[in-house]
Amino acid sequence: MKKILLIHGPNLNMLGVRESTHYGTLTLADIEREVNEKSLEQGYETVPFQSNHEGALIDWIQEHANNSSGIIINPGAFTHYSYALHDALLDTRLPCVEVHLSDIHNREEWRRHSVIAPACIAQISGKKEQGYQEALYALIRAIEQ
Ligand code: DQA
Repeated sequence: MKKILLIHGPNLNMLGVRESTHYGTLTLADIEREVNEKSLEQGYETVPFQSNHEGALIDWIQEHANNSSGIIINPGAFTHYSYALHDALLDTRLPCVEVHLSDIHNREEWRRHSVIAPACIAQISGKKEQGYQEALYALIRAIEQ
Protein backbone atom coordinates (compact mmCIF):
# COMPACT_ATOMS: atom_id res chain seq x y z
CA MET A 1 0.00 0.00 0.00
CA LYS A 2 1.20 3.54 -0.77
CA LYS A 3 2.54 5.45 2.21
CA ILE A 4 2.07 8.94 3.63
CA LEU A 5 4.49 10.14 6.31
CA LEU A 6 2.77 11.80 9.29
CA ILE A 7 5.41 13.78 11.17
CA HIS A 8 5.21 15.71 14.43
CA GLY A 9 7.87 17.97 15.92
CA PRO A 10 8.74 19.03 19.46
CA ASN A 11 6.24 18.99 22.33
CA LEU A 12 3.49 17.43 20.25
CA ASN A 13 3.99 14.19 22.20
CA MET A 14 2.33 16.20 25.00
CA LEU A 15 -0.98 16.74 23.19
CA GLY A 16 -3.86 16.08 25.55
CA VAL A 17 -1.87 17.83 28.30
CA ARG A 18 -0.88 21.05 26.46
CA GLU A 19 -3.21 24.10 26.47
CA SER A 20 -6.49 22.74 25.10
CA THR A 21 -7.69 26.15 23.89
CA HIS A 22 -4.91 26.12 21.30
CA TYR A 23 -4.34 22.43 20.72
CA GLY A 24 -7.61 20.63 21.53
CA THR A 25 -8.00 17.66 23.83
CA LEU A 26 -6.91 14.72 21.67
CA THR A 27 -3.63 12.95 22.30
CA LEU A 28 -1.08 12.44 19.55
CA ALA A 29 -2.03 8.74 19.44
CA ASP A 30 -5.69 9.74 18.89
CA ILE A 31 -4.73 12.01 15.99
CA GLU A 32 -2.44 9.42 14.42
CA ARG A 33 -5.21 6.81 14.64
CA GLU A 34 -7.84 9.12 13.12
CA VAL A 35 -5.60 10.19 10.25
CA ASN A 36 -4.62 6.60 9.53
CA GLU A 37 -8.29 5.50 9.45
CA LYS A 38 -9.18 8.24 6.97
CA SER A 39 -6.14 7.56 4.83
CA LEU A 40 -6.80 3.79 4.68
CA GLU A 41 -10.23 4.63 3.26
CA GLN A 42 -8.38 6.40 0.44
CA GLY A 43 -5.92 3.56 -0.15
CA TYR A 44 -2.95 5.00 1.76
CA GLU A 45 -1.25 3.90 4.95
CA THR A 46 0.18 6.62 7.21
CA VAL A 47 3.57 6.09 8.82
CA PRO A 48 3.74 8.20 12.02
CA PHE A 49 6.81 9.69 13.67
CA GLN A 50 7.31 12.27 16.43
CA SER A 51 10.52 13.70 17.83
CA ASN A 52 11.60 16.56 20.02
CA HIS A 53 14.93 16.65 18.17
CA GLU A 54 15.59 18.43 14.89
CA GLY A 55 18.28 16.01 13.71
CA ALA A 56 16.13 12.97 14.49
CA LEU A 57 13.32 14.37 12.36
CA ILE A 58 15.71 15.01 9.47
CA ASP A 59 17.32 11.55 9.73
CA TRP A 60 13.88 9.94 9.73
CA ILE A 61 12.67 11.96 6.72
CA GLN A 62 15.80 11.04 4.77
CA GLU A 63 15.33 7.37 5.62
CA HIS A 64 11.63 7.14 4.76
CA ALA A 65 11.02 9.58 1.88
CA ASN A 66 12.05 7.15 -0.86
CA ASN A 67 9.24 4.73 -0.09
CA SER A 68 6.53 7.36 0.34
CA SER A 69 4.08 9.36 -1.75
CA GLY A 70 3.79 12.48 0.41
CA ILE A 71 4.21 14.10 3.81
CA ILE A 72 1.91 15.69 6.39
CA ILE A 73 3.94 17.59 8.98
CA ASN A 74 3.22 19.60 12.09
CA PRO A 75 6.73 20.87 12.83
CA GLY A 76 5.79 22.45 16.21
CA ALA A 77 8.07 25.37 17.09
CA PHE A 78 10.58 24.27 14.42
CA THR A 79 8.05 25.83 12.02
CA HIS A 80 9.39 29.23 12.89
CA TYR A 81 13.15 28.75 12.58
CA SER A 82 14.32 25.39 11.23
CA TYR A 83 15.84 26.00 7.82
CA ALA A 84 17.36 22.52 8.13
CA LEU A 85 13.91 20.96 8.33
CA HIS A 86 12.76 23.09 5.39
CA ASP A 87 15.70 21.81 3.32
CA ALA A 88 15.08 18.18 4.33
CA LEU A 89 11.47 18.43 3.15
CA LEU A 90 12.44 20.12 -0.10
CA ASP A 91 15.10 17.49 -0.80
CA THR A 92 12.48 14.72 -0.69
CA ARG A 93 10.77 16.28 -3.77
CA LEU A 94 7.53 14.93 -2.29
CA PRO A 95 4.36 16.98 -1.88
CA CYS A 96 4.20 18.16 1.75
CA VAL A 97 1.34 19.75 3.69
CA GLU A 98 2.02 21.76 6.86
CA VAL A 99 -0.57 21.51 9.66
CA HIS A 100 -1.01 23.53 12.84
CA LEU A 101 -3.67 22.76 15.43
CA SER A 102 -3.74 26.37 16.61
CA ASP A 103 -4.15 29.46 14.45
CA ILE A 104 -0.51 30.55 14.20
CA HIS A 105 -1.58 33.76 12.43
CA ASN A 106 -3.56 34.96 15.46
CA ARG A 107 -1.13 34.29 18.28
CA GLU A 108 2.24 35.82 19.19
CA GLU A 109 4.01 37.74 16.43
CA TRP A 110 6.89 35.23 16.23
CA ARG A 111 4.51 32.36 15.41
CA ARG A 112 3.14 34.05 12.30
CA HIS A 113 6.11 33.26 10.09
CA SER A 114 6.76 29.73 8.87
CA VAL A 115 10.12 28.91 7.30
CA ILE A 116 8.64 25.50 6.42
CA ALA A 117 5.80 26.88 4.25
CA PRO A 118 7.90 27.40 1.08
CA ALA A 119 8.65 23.64 1.07
CA CYS A 120 4.93 22.78 1.27
CA ILE A 121 2.02 22.84 -1.16
CA ALA A 122 -0.41 24.01 1.55
CA GLN A 123 -0.59 25.22 5.14
CA ILE A 124 -3.62 24.43 7.30
CA SER A 125 -3.77 26.31 10.57
CA GLY A 126 -6.26 26.79 13.39
CA LYS A 127 -8.64 23.91 12.71
CA LYS A 128 -7.44 21.67 15.55
CA GLU A 129 -7.52 17.96 14.63
CA GLN A 130 -9.90 18.65 11.70
CA GLY A 131 -6.93 20.24 9.97
CA TYR A 132 -5.27 16.85 9.51
CA GLN A 133 -8.21 15.50 7.56
CA GLU A 134 -8.12 18.54 5.30
CA ALA A 135 -4.37 18.12 4.89
CA LEU A 136 -4.81 14.46 4.00
CA TYR A 137 -7.33 15.20 1.25
CA ALA A 138 -5.24 18.08 -0.14
CA LEU A 139 -2.17 15.85 -0.16
CA ILE A 140 -3.93 12.94 -1.89
CA ARG A 141 -5.33 15.32 -4.52
CA ALA A 142 -1.78 16.54 -5.21
CA ILE A 143 -0.34 13.01 -5.30
CA GLU A 144 -3.01 11.79 -7.72
CA GLN A 145 -3.21 14.77 -10.06
C1 DQA B 1 1.88 24.32 16.55
C2 DQA B 1 2.12 25.84 16.59
C3 DQA B 1 3.55 26.16 16.97
O1 DQA B 1 3.75 27.57 17.01
C4 DQA B 1 3.86 25.59 18.34
O2 DQA B 1 5.19 25.84 18.68
C5 DQA B 1 3.52 24.15 18.47
C6 DQA B 1 2.30 23.66 17.85
C7 DQA B 1 0.39 23.98 16.34
O3 DQA B 1 0.08 22.84 16.04
O4 DQA B 1 -0.46 24.86 16.50
O5 DQA B 1 4.20 23.39 19.16
O6 DQA B 1 2.61 23.77 15.48
